[in-house]
Amino acid sequence: MEIRVTASAGFCFGVKRAVETVYEQIQTGKTIYTYGSIVHNEEVVKELTELGVRVIEDRQELERMLEQDSLADEIPQDVTVIIRAHGVSKDISQRMAQKGWNIVDTTCPFVEHIHRLVEERSRQGEHILVVGGPEHPEVEGTVGWCNGPVDVLESVEEAEKYVPPEGKKLTVVAQTTFNYNKFQHIVEILKEKGYNVSIVNTICNATEERQRETREVAADADAMIVIGGKHSSNTRKLYEICKEVCDNTCFIQTLDDLHLELPRSAGLIGITAGASTPNKLIEEVQNYVRINF
Ligand code: F3S
Repeated sequence: MEIRVTASAGFCFGVKRAVETVYEQIQTGKTIYTYGSIVHNEEVVKELTELGVRVIEDRQELERMLEQDSLADEIPQDVTVIIRAHGVSKDISQRMAQKGWNIVDTTCPFVEHIHRLVEERSRQGEHILVVGGPEHPEVEGTVGWCNGPVDVLESVEEAEKYVPPEGKKLTVVAQTTFNYNKFQHIVEILKEKGYNVSIVNTICNATEERQRETREVAADADAMIVIGGKHSSNTRKLYEICKEVCDNTCFIQTLDDLHLELPRSAGLIGITAGASTPNKLIEEVQNYVRINF
């Protein structure tokens, strides 16, 4: 029996780097905060909480901490705040630094590239349009790096109605996890309007790559195991992809959910995992399958 795990299963490069940084920082013995949950995975967040890592949930909580000096009993130099892979706006990062806390920035380099780009282009007087969810933390961060006016839209309908300021060059960027086909559609609409537009495709290919590999493995597999949170939309998408080509596909959150029935002739079991699934869990499932099938 062969077991094949997709190479891109689990954390993408940026999230992996951020999570590893938190574990490294715990070793320093300082008080560790993350700005927002480091990853959307309950198990990981629970484990970090047990190790003493605290979460600053959002901007409101940060402002309260800054204004009320709720860390008065802590020595600022002994407080480390970790910025997650999504990044934050310029002012949030500056506000935290002014407080004297140690800032450990794990903004994904692909997101940082967008920050530099919008900062530079808006400084040159260009108008910025971000295609993405206005309330997504990554988009909020990107907006916060613009030196001038910026708009955000996420639907085809909004693109159809969109009118940029007259006479200005428009630079369009995307949230890194935005759907590629939808972005292309929105771009076509903007181009047809005849505006002076510069399009920069900033979509990260980690998600697309994971889906492509999953499809390939599932096509050859007798059974597929998809690991991820039940509310994770990218994991559900992986399940749908597998189910299309491999009827014997199961979706599990933890090893306890695994009830796999295999035909005697089964030769290959495939394993894939959503973006917030830790390696430890993928390995656990892999070992279990190796021992029991
Ligand atoms: Fe992950 Fe960075 Fe791409 S956080 S999804 S590798 S932009």
